[in-house]
Amino acid sequence: MIDHATIERIIDAAEITEVVSDFVTLRRRGVNLLGLCPFHNEKTPSFTVSPAKGIFKCFGCGKGGNSVNFIMEHENLTYPEALKWLAKKYHIEVVEHEDSEEEKQLNDERESLMIVSGFAQKYFTRYLWEENEGRTIGLSYFRERSFRDDTLKKFEVGYAPDGKTPFTDAAQKEGYKMDFLEKTGLSIKRDEWVRDRFAGRVIFPIHNLAGRVIAFGGRILKENKETAKYLNSPESEIYHKSKIVYGIFQAKREISKTDKCYLVEGYTDVLSMHQAGIENVVASSGTALTADQIRMIKRFTPNITIIYDGDAAGIKASLRGIDLVLEEGMNVKVLLLPDGDDPDSFAKKMGASGFANYIRENETDFIQFKTRLLLKDAENDPVSKAKLITDVIRSVAVIPDPITRSVYIKACSKLLDVNEELLYSEVQKQKRKQNDELVKNEIRIETRKAAPQTLIPQVINPADLIEEELVFLRFLLKFGKTPLFEIEGENPNEPETITAGEYMVGEIEKDDLISQNELFRIIFTDVQQNLGTPGFDPWKHFVNHPNSKISQLAINLLSDKFVESNIWKRGGGYTESEEDILDLLVPKVINEYKSRKIRMMLTEIEEEINKAYQANNFDRVIDEQSKYMNLKRVEKELSEKLGNRTIH
Ligand code: CTP
Ligand code: MN
Repeated sequence: MIDHATIERIIDAAEITEVVSDFVTLRRRGVNLLGLCPFHNEKTPSFTVSPAKGIFKCFGCGKGGNSVNFIMEHENLTYPEALKWLAKKYHIEVVEHEDSEEEKQLNDERESLMIVSGFAQKYFTRYLWEENEGRTIGLSYFRERSFRDDTLKKFEVGYAPDGKTPFTDAAQKEGYKMDFLEKTGLSIKRDEWVRDRFAGRVIFPIHNLAGRVIAFGGRILKENKETAKYLNSPESEIYHKSKIVYGIFQAKREISKTDKCYLVEGYTDVLSMHQAGIENVVASSGTALTADQIRMIKRFTPNITIIYDGDAAGIKASLRGIDLVLEEGMNVKVLLLPDGDDPDSFAKKMGASGFANYIRENETDFIQFKTRLLLKDAENDPVSKAKLITDVIRSVAVIPDPITRSVYIKACSKLLDVNEELLYSEVQKQKRKQNDELVKNEIRIETRKAAPQTLIPQVINPADLIEEELVFLRFLLKFGKTPLFEIEGENPNEPETITAGEYMVGEIEKDDLISQNELFRIIFTDVQQNLGTPGFDPWKHFVNHPNSKISQLAINLLSDKFVESNIWKRGGGYTESEEDILDLLVPKVINEYKSRKIRMMLTEIEEEINKAYQANNFDRVIDEQSKYMNLKRVEKELSEKLGNRTIH
């Protein structure tokens, strides 16, 4: 873990213009700089960098953030990786802070599990090549399936001897602890009863990106309906099967080089394709494809071709995969094999060049794939055709990049003979629907991951913030530390300065009008608590916030193109800069916020009164009525203030 002080030093050093300029040619445009967005394809520049704010924002694709976010996005790195990247650029020594006891133990444990797994792999591999049982049973099986020795060695396959505990015994004799054998699943232990998990199976070790063995798949050799064909290692501290793709270590160089990755289902598919000279291939290994797996591939290429069996199950799996890949902003193609074949059997049937030819001729983009698949019965039936269009639209709508989307819309319009404009509006509709769901899910996931020290609510939906709240937050972030006016201090000759932030927070606290919106509450209470801390800069604090919903909101609020509120136009529109007339604006912002909040509360109370009245609950009616009158009074005061403040 990188300590806090170092993170701050890196963020301070990593000047946004300098960082971005390494990748994008920027031209000065007023106070900002402008260039072609590196994250989507564009001909006219809409990628803006604000040196003053330390942020970038693309008004084409919506991406935005600080220097660290830029490097994360551009170099496909995680947050700590991006920090280290920048530290290197600025020659900052990264102090990885002392891990806590708990973290240390976890790291030790992970290391131990990897060491045991490494031992097991070597044991199984040696057994396959050198022991009699391994050679006659394991090796002859692989050879029967026409796997060459170099292929077997490349993937470090092996054989686990049959019997109750030959492997466990050997491992214990070498000093490996039962605890780790159990946690990796290599040994199964119940009370006094112990068994080797993979006994009598050929072994496919699963490597992580760095090439270390983290798990195993073991295939049974006889046809046996009682036991599963493949047994896999259980989930452990080092093996999360939804986060790894099989073969990535052996494929990653070729994936980068060819800028493309083939995705297949099984272990043997990967081996056979390598053997046929196609080395940019990984497998999802029996699990339904996950977003994490796709992201792992995305570190090396944005182009995926899904190769699945031509049977019904394969088609279904391909369809599911398509949308997932599109959602990650990647390009997806599909290749169906003839029914009854998988890449393993097909590669062996066709030979290396035959297989390569087949791929070239049969790879289709996802729209063609879906269309061909569904058009068969849709041609003369308007209802099925409408269904088909909806289906394709749904896939197009998940593509994050608007340019790519429009390319597909054009293709789709031609292929299906539907009006382009119509498709556009359908895609927009779908997008809105998907967005609502996405925001909710994303935040739920993030919330689970969020550091426990901050209380992050279950659901934050920035879209729920009303205009007055957004304006209020913008001022709070932008001018939180800007002096607003002076008041008499304890010392008559030393007046005390009140900042805009202090004034805003105080005013809202006073009338108990903190918004119920969770995002608002987080930012507000965060400012409330930290405003007094020297060096606290709300602007910087929220732009660099670890919760991406919060940092995105901050970035949007602080972006120049943030559409200024209509509130100002009602007042006639200002020509002065906001900072020049802060003493007029801040009270106005506060009062607009308050009066909107009060209006909302009044509506709620009215409803309460009606309900209570209908329920003959007159005590309640009187109660609510008096609340109502109070609020009305505050509202009247406010509107007088607002009236007086109107500027012409
Ligand atoms: N799989 C699994 N458990 C099973 C069956 C399958 O984990 N009981 C996973 C394996 O990773 C396997 C993949 O799903 O490689 C695809 O399954 P399948 O097509 O049945 O196996 P093949 O890879 O074709 O294996 P083989 O050619 O040896 O039959
Ligand atoms: Mn197979």
